[in-house]
Amino acid sequence: MPDTTKHLLIVEDEASLRAVVAERLTDEGYEVVQASNGEEALERLAEFAFDIVITDLRLPGIDGGKVLEAAVARYPEIIGIVVTGYGTVKDAVEAIKRGATDFVTKPFQFDELLHVLDSALEQRRLKSENAYLRSELERRYSFSGIVGRSRPMRDLFQLLETVSATSSTILVSGETGTGKELVARAIHHNSPRRSCQFVAINCSAIPETLLEAELFGHVRGAFTGAVGNRVGRFEQAHKGTLFLDEVGTMGAPLQMKLLRALQEREVERVGDSRPIKVDVRVIAATNSDLVKLVAAGTFREDLFYRLNVIPVRLPPLRDRREDIPLLVQHFLDRFCREMNPPRPSMTVSQQAMRQLMAYGWPGNVRQLENALERAVALGAGRTQIELSDLPPDVQELGEAPAQGPLVLPDGGIDFAEFVGSVERDLIRQSLERTGGNKGRAAQLLNLKRTTLVEKLKRINQN
Ligand SMILES: Nc1ncnc2c1ncn2[C@@H]1O[C@H](COP(=O)(O)OP(=O)(O)OP(=O)(O)O)[C@@H](O)[C@H]1O
Ligand SMILES: [Mg+2]
Repeated sequence: MPDTTKHLLIVEDEASLRAVVAERLTDEGYEVVQASNGEEALERLAEFAFDIVITDLRLPGIDGGKVLEAAVARYPEIIGIVVTGYGTVKDAVEAIKRGATDFVTKPFQFDELLHVLDSALEQRRLKSENAYLRSELERRYSFSGIVGRSRPMRDLFQLLETVSATSSTILVSGETGTGKELVARAIHHNSPRRSCQFVAINCSAIPETLLEAELFGHVRGAFTGAVGNRVGRFEQAHKGTLFLDEVGTMGAPLQMKLLRALQEREVERVGDSRPIKVDVRVIAATNSDLVKLVAAGTFREDLFYRLNVIPVRLPPLRDRREDIPLLVQHFLDRFCREMNPPRPSMTVSQQAMRQLMAYGWPGNVRQLENALERAVALGAGRTQIELSDLPPDVQELGEAPAQGPLVLPDGGIDFAEFVGSVERDLIRQSLERTGGNKGRAAQLLNLKRTTLVEKLKRINQN
């Protein structure tokens, strides 16, 4: 049984009054300690963490205000009740500003004091209950900054908790902006490897010819331009975590070398055949369906199984819309806090929230995050985000862009936004259809690959 006895310090210079109150409080079940002046009160407070301090404001020497201040400074949760003479309520108000919970005026009926104590205790109980509930909510609906309450996200949190403790290889898949990198970082930071490095490398951002040296390092003279020895990302991540982003874009020769590194747990620097032992946890990510790439013969099946030891799938945001309100509040809190100077957090009007929940979010959480950053900037000086603060395509087009013959609405449209959203949708579809292969996606759209890559970059930034 936890000890629920409340320990109370009463500070009063009038001995008879002090004794009577102390006796009655003891009858009520309080564990009472008495102090006859401020100095003595400070000594008692230094020795023991009282739940409650009741102090007369007027005391000889150190006054009650000082006692209260010292008590609150030492024990922020303490209940401080001040007793003031009749007609000095102003002092009581002052004391409340300095942290007192409540006050009674002299002369008082004992019942009045009891009542004040009861309600202060009740307040305190509710407050800690709320704090408890809030921390429970935060715990249940987030994992290391990943927010969500939908079934798949809650399952994900549980999985992450388990796999973080291990060194198993993980393959994270999901559309762009679904949080693949966030998940990889969360796993690292919750793993025993957190004190060593998290090394991230985007396999699609580095030309294939340089990627090998980037991953495995090279020795001087290994190829034209290799002027010195160089440590690769695998070695850098020794005892830590290596994040291989967009692993599906890797060419066949490198897939072979990666497979060997994963199997042997050792790497060879380019131009050197001495193997170097590495202890690395690998987390790979892909926004294309590797199973399809395997079927199409562009991704090695054996490498796929090596990577896919623990698959983590992040569903697109449109398939877990119940996460949207939580994410919206999470981002609003963050952007308001990050403003200079920080602003009190904002809310979203019903109308705006309806639209946020109805929209298709092809760019997933990243797109939602960007939309809210913009809205916070536009909403300067207000406490609520309105529909008009949302990006035009979210405001007007609702779900996916209109199908069938285009009809110019009577009210007109934002040309650039509309065309932009059609562009984004076509690019998304072309990538989905080609399993994320940018070259083939570009062919489908009759674009140059570089043009597609440029456009993708811009989409990801907006
Ligand atoms: N569940 C979530 N809770 C909070 N923030 C999230 C969540 N999911 C994604 N984000 C945020 O969205 C942005 C995009 O996430 P991240 O970079 O991890 O996506 P990604 O899947 O790696 O995208 P890409 O495939 O384009 O690289 C980041 O700012 C990230 O913090
Ligand atoms: Mg990413």
